[in-house]
Amino acid sequence: MGRTAHSEDCLTDAPLLPFAPSEMAVVEPRGMRNRKGLSCPLWTENKALLIQEYIKLFTYVTKHGAYIDGFAAPQRRNHAAKCSAKLVLENKPPWVRDFWLCDIDLDGIALLEQIKAANQMKGRRIEVLPGDFNTTVDTVLERIIAASSAEGATVLDPFCGCGTAVHAAQKLGRQWIGIDVTHLAISLIEKRLRAAFPGVAFTVEGTPKDLASAQDLAARDKYQFQWWAVSMVDAMPFGGKKKGADGGIDGVIYFKPDGKRTERAIVSVKGGLNPSVTMVETLAATIERERAPVGILLMNALPTREMERRAAAVGRFDAPATGKTYPRLQIITLAELFRGKKPDLPLIDPGAAFRKAAREETARQDTLL
Ligand SMILES: C[S@@+](CC[C@H](N)C(=O)[O-])C[C@H]1O[C@@H](n2cnc3c(N)ncnc32)[C@H](O)[C@@H]1O
Repeated sequence: MGRTAHSEDCLTDAPLLPFAPSEMAVVEPRGMRNRKGLSCPLWTENKALLIQEYIKLFTYVTKHGAYIDGFAAPQRRNHAAKCSAKLVLENKPPWVRDFWLCDIDLDGIALLEQIKAANQMKGRRIEVLPGDFNTTVDTVLERIIAASSAEGATVLDPFCGCGTAVHAAQKLGRQWIGIDVTHLAISLIEKRLRAAFPGVAFTVEGTPKDLASAQDLAARDKYQFQWWAVSMVDAMPFGGKKKGADGGIDGVIYFKPDGKRTERAIVSVKGGLNPSVTMVETLAATIERERAPVGILLMNALPTREMERRAAAVGRFDAPATGKTYPRLQIITLAELFRGKKPDLPLIDPGAAFRKAAREETARQDTLL
């Protein structure tokens, strides 16, 4: 998290300059032989060295970053020597002053208090926070951002994931920049922010904005394209975004045809340029196997007449909730996605795919960086 301005309870007046590379040692993790005779750095043996290297890179990137460990207590309660938080504190990273250590277990908290007592330093703040990090992370990030930056400052989260820090920054009236390598994370954050801060202004860079950039992504990175395409129809990526064999399922959309029971529409993404009847046949077989009422085929190429005929032949299903029928196998092309076409499904349950953020009281960011 970048620190660009200081509020009154800020701990340090250190200048906002990059530190000299000589301030921290360059660490080469020791090579180890595993059971198969391969040379590799083993995590348990090299933890201290890896942490040192990590902290060095972390400090390079963030300058005044804060260290937050949500699951901080030593894994082996009777042997705290390799505890990450302890190793980080002992490493004395000169530019990291704020340490937030959380654990749900009271024995663990007692150990963290001991670690805190043994590692006090001038200008350093160590806070030990008891509680479930999954529920306290929002509050912790808000406290850190409030303490480490003034209103209008910019918060950078270079690995913004599900957007907790970005959300907290927005709520507190900071500017923010979030970076993430996956399109799923970006689309999740977009939905989260628009739900919590209606009218919020921000731009998304790097996500395909038109057909050409989507086709470019399809050609460059099969999985990123797949996850992006799945997010365009508000589907959950199948199998938690694992790469590899997926049994013909790339995403799932949940809906309730009778208003009560949840059913699945199975999404299959085809980024290639050659349309084939096999694509329709395979998806038809997949929805039969999975007992799913609907299959959605997202295609880069245009479907052939025969593909459309076979898709129509799969039939329609009834939705008592709307009193209408819907095609069981639906083909949507990339071009149609960009024209706003969505799967034709009754009572989609978006909450099942994306956790809905509660609407926030404060929604102050209207200007962009
Ligand atoms: C694998 S240990 C952490 C190891 C530690 N980071 C280290 O380097 O030695 C996992 C810790 O997470 C804590 N924990 C588990 N669930 C938690 C939750 N929801 N919130 C906070 N702490 C949790 C456990 O009490 C345990 O101390």
